[in-house]
Amino acid sequence: MDEITTTGLTKNFGDLVAVDHIDLNIPSGTIFGLLGPNGAGKSTTTRLLSTLLRPTEGTGTVSEYDIIMEPVRVREVIGVLPEESNHTLYPSLTAYENLEYFARLYDVPEDEIPERIEELLTFMVLWDRKDDKAGELSTGNRQRLALCRAILHRPKVLLLDEPTSALDPIAAKRVRELILELSKKYKQTFLINSHNLPEVQRVCDRIAIIDEGKILLQGKTQELRSKLLAKQQFRIRIVGDVDKAGSIAKSMNFVEDVKQEVDSIIVTIEDPTENNSSLMQNMLSQGIKIVEFAEEEATLEDLYLEVVKGGIEK
Ligand SMILES: Nc1ncnc2c1ncn2[C@@H]1O[C@H](COP(=O)(O)OP(=O)(O)OP(=O)(O)O)[C@@H](O)[C@H]1O
Ligand SMILES: [Mg+2]
Repeated sequence: MDEITTTGLTKNFGDLVAVDHIDLNIPSGTIFGLLGPNGAGKSTTTRLLSTLLRPTEGTGTVSEYDIIMEPVRVREVIGVLPEESNHTLYPSLTAYENLEYFARLYDVPEDEIPERIEELLTFMVLWDRKDDKAGELSTGNRQRLALCRAILHRPKVLLLDEPTSALDPIAAKRVRELILELSKKYKQTFLINSHNLPEVQRVCDRIAIIDEGKILLQGKTQELRSKLLAKQQFRIRIVGDVDKAGSIAKSMNFVEDVKQEVDSIIVTIEDPTENNSSLMQNMLSQGIKIVEFAEEEATLEDLYLEVVKGGIEK
């Protein structure tokens, strides 16, 4: 079953088309990354799915509830971390009181509330701050608290808008671990907005790339990465004359691109299974000492840049 779907989902603000006929299908239990540059339409998509905005056109479902016809049902099954995390917190209540209040609102069994709050605050390294007013927390700590609030009632679907944007690297890593753990334990479905590519690559099973309101590409993270492998990059680490190694590589007609680093050259090779050995032999015969000849891992960043600048076939 698809836990989240959208069909031609569109949102205009006056003349601006913020979200432009997007079709998403997010299977139950998926960690889905919506990736795109500033102003691409990520947050607007989240607001539409969380029923804070009404679509101009098209529709969507969350846990099979229609976002236009059944907004109350939708809100019951989602946990949301909005872009401005302080929008969901009461600044004059303490961190603990905020979570307690939301837990009751979402009918978390009364006898489980203290334990769940302590567990989450401890995991997010906020337990020491439990008696601080939410409005007086630092931006990053507020984001941690807002995340606790989004997941506290264990909703089926989590809509997280840039969950680590204000976090230091250690806290960001904790959040990634938390997402993976929750996904394993409760089989929740996540839609995570981000422009942090390494993060998406680590956490998400599927991604969609959005730009100017349009989905440019979507699929399994693994498959999208393999799209890049048609043109493979290799790192050739050498001892000695890097310039000479570079010019040998450039002289071969199947080498598309050569970059030089201190002790290596990075070459893009067409049809590598066919051509790698002749490049290696040519270099060795001209006295280049090769200490490593290794495939460079294709990253989502390469894909993202290609897609956003329009260079890859969809
Ligand atoms: N309430 C609004 N009124 C008018 N325009 C809006 C409104 N909300 C968003 N927009 C516009 O819609 C477009 C998409 O915005 P959105 O916030 O969805 O982008 P985003 O992908 O979340 O970007 P970012 O990475 O900067 O958070 C932008 O051009 C933005 O200026
Ligand atoms: Mg945004």
